[in-house]
Amino acid sequence: MIEEPDNQLELDDIQSGVLRPRPTPYVATYIALRIDDAAAGRELMRRASAVVTSAANPRSPLSDTWVSVALTYQGFKALGVPQESLDSFSWEFRQGMAARAKELGDIGESSPEHWEQPLGTPDVHVVFVIVSPDGARLEAALESARTTYRKMKGIEAIWRQDCHALPDEKEPFGFRDGMSHPAIEGSGLPGSNPQEQPLKAGEFVLGYRDEMNGVQRTQPDVLGRNGTYVVFRKLHQRVADFRRYLKDNSTDAEAEELLAAKMMGRWRSGAPLALCPFHDNPELGADPQLNNDFLFQEDDPAGLKTPSGSHIRRTNPRDANIAGMARIHRMIRRGTAYGPPLPEGVLDDDGADRGLMFAFVGASIGRQFEFVQSQWINDGVFIGAGSDTDPVMGANGGPNNFTLPRKPVRRRLQGIPRFVSTRGGEYCFMPGLRALRWLADLRT
Ligand code: HEM
Repeated sequence: MIEEPDNQLELDDIQSGVLRPRPTPYVATYIALRIDDAAAGRELMRRASAVVTSAANPRSPLSDTWVSVALTYQGFKALGVPQESLDSFSWEFRQGMAARAKELGDIGESSPEHWEQPLGTPDVHVVFVIVSPDGARLEAALESARTTYRKMKGIEAIWRQDCHALPDEKEPFGFRDGMSHPAIEGSGLPGSNPQEQPLKAGEFVLGYRDEMNGVQRTQPDVLGRNGTYVVFRKLHQRVADFRRYLKDNSTDAEAEELLAAKMMGRWRSGAPLALCPFHDNPELGADPQLNNDFLFQEDDPAGLKTPSGSHIRRTNPRDANIAGMARIHRMIRRGTAYGPPLPEGVLDDDGADRGLMFAFVGASIGRQFEFVQSQWINDGVFIGAGSDTDPVMGANGGPNNFTLPRKPVRRRLQGIPRFVSTRGGEYCFMPGLRALRWLADLRT
């Protein structure tokens, strides 16, 4: 019999990466593996279950290295998970990210045919994310992992992406990232906005009640319980183009910074326009008690401070008046920069690949990730802005505009270029620790 869920999360069964923010600064690596032999794949799950940290335990079994493991639908198949169980996962997950390209705005240069190989192909089965405070400790952990899996015939490492988070958590366009996180009922971990009611645990972890009063379960229950969906996207950022665009559309350096802030909804320091609309306030930007303590509707319904079309107001409209309900489209994000930073002041592209390894964590790829990506980032209907897209990271390059409400007249920027393109990605499921052992024990 399946027990009714209560709202206390079973933290000791949930992978730490789902709920706990990472320490900063840190380096991380994503490793994708292909399973050619189901028995070897199950043995890998057994070993993974011994090194993955649970959310109940801030200490890792590997001291200062944290490991998370996630599987694609093809990965579950490669392990021999029965069809009945496979069918109990969400439709979007079963399709995989590449099949959803049109819905996600992955067209033109972002389309799967241009993705880094083997991303988006049926070869990607397991994704490990390994996080460490520095490169030396990460390499040491990787070396010991390599020694293990090289002995395991039937497992092939097929892709690797190194990433890093700087002490100030700046992403490649220069904005502080990783500040806004939802509060989750029963997690014991605080959210970042004291004005946001904690969200039901089922929004982020399977097996618990969600905001729609539903409980997601898989067949058998143990496979999905305490697990969550994870979306990885390698997003290339054209930093030089972004800087040049700001310069070309501003009268001086101060106006450039203001335009950047209007596009993002925050100054590069992280300080939100909602709390300091005219001038940056780096102290406020760095203060986690204050830098997310704001709403939009009462104070700024027209977007005179934070434009409705800015990245943070689109991706989390908070209490703003929009078509639809914001609370059912929230997400946990774990973005990490990759590639060498473009030196300060450089306006010409140096050809280096740099950007964000974007990671979404949530219980619904469709209602959370895909909805935000397609309706809030790549469309403007929900804020009455027609087909306008997110000025920072939308699938731009067409006739889309960005409107800055102003008195006496608004400013409208037309034909925003595309600053971010997709280099690949995967829809994965991050099982609970018991589920990893269930996978290890599978017999077919
Ligand atoms: C290269 C691409 C991207 C860049 C440079 C970027 C940058 C940022 C920055 C600087 C922030 C503010 C920091 C914070 O609130 O923690 C932010 C917030 C956010 N971003 Fe992105 N982002 C990118 C892609 C995405 C994507 C693909 C999604 C979702 C599909 C997304 C969803 C969000 C959400 C939900 C927030 C929090 C908004 C809030 O709660 O106020 N971002 N992003």
